[in-house]
Amino acid sequence: MKIAYSVEELRAEVAAWRRTGESISFVPTMGNLHDGHISLLTKARELANRSVVSIFVNPIQFGRGEDYAKYPSTLEADKQKLSAAGLDLLFAPNLDQLYPGGIEEDTRVSVPGLSSILCGQFRPGHFSGVATVVTKLLLNVQPDIALFGEKDYQQVLVIKQMVHDLLMPVQILGQPIVREADGLAMSSRNAYLNARERELAPQIYQAMIRAREKLLPQTLSLIAIETAGMAELAAVGFRPEYFSIRRAQDLGLPQAGDTCLQLLVAAWLGPARLIDNLRIELPEPLKAS
Ligand code: PAJ
Repeated sequence: MKIAYSVEELRAEVAAWRRTGESISFVPTMGNLHDGHISLLTKARELANRSVVSIFVNPIQFGRGEDYAKYPSTLEADKQKLSAAGLDLLFAPNLDQLYPGGIEEDTRVSVPGLSSILCGQFRPGHFSGVATVVTKLLLNVQPDIALFGEKDYQQVLVIKQMVHDLLMPVQILGQPIVREADGLAMSSRNAYLNARERELAPQIYQAMIRAREKLLPQTLSLIAIETAGMAELAAVGFRPEYFSIRRAQDLGLPQAGDTCLQLLVAAWLGPARLIDNLRIELPEPLKAS
């Protein structure tokens, strides 16, 4: 496995592959890698001749008072995992490499609409931070295909919209959520939980499964199911931000006739903000609710 710490080194490696006509797949990450990240790399390796992973904790996607300063950094362990998984090139730039103009007055990419709902409502500026750094990465890695986890469902849609609107010549592929045995979605932020909180954390997944069961017969309104989900999580000690049933395709409010919905949840547990989501395929089109 090669490692590029600068944009220049990255470009040199990629240019050599491009000259010989090799295809390139790319997985952007913030490091502290777990099996969810590695599943993206495994898929990425199936889809192209060469794979690139980036590790960069992107300051501009964190709000004031969020966990940027304490975000776990485990670069040596990450390198081992990536090398064992057969990665060709790790790109691990520092802040100056990706933000040569600093992070205050620099150019930003923003994706309207999708960026201001759900997580965007609670984390203003977050998706513009993600869109900006992913643009920089895509421009320099020049992959044929980039893979993102559906753990961050809204993020996948924001990136797809950006790539569509800016005519970026790359295919964006979402990949399924990798979970712990008890249902908790894997996340670097799970490490913030104490033993008691870690035991409670899978209740998000369980509440989503219950909500899906309630939704399928279509006897309760969506709002009643969402309100019950919020209350169930609050009752066991979460501070839920949203428990929301949306159209899977664009996160709009469900309309009569829809069959493919997505339940999305964000909830604080102790010091950790956890997010998760679940696909709901209705056997019968949604009735007007
Ligand atoms: P990070 O949280 O490190 O996640 C990197 C990629 O791994 C994302 O596409 C994320 O959705 C995926 N991922 C995380 N947990 C997963 C799980 N349990 N199952 C499947 N995939 C999972 O997302 C980011 O970094 C950043 O916003 C980034 C895109 C790198 C831009 O800074």
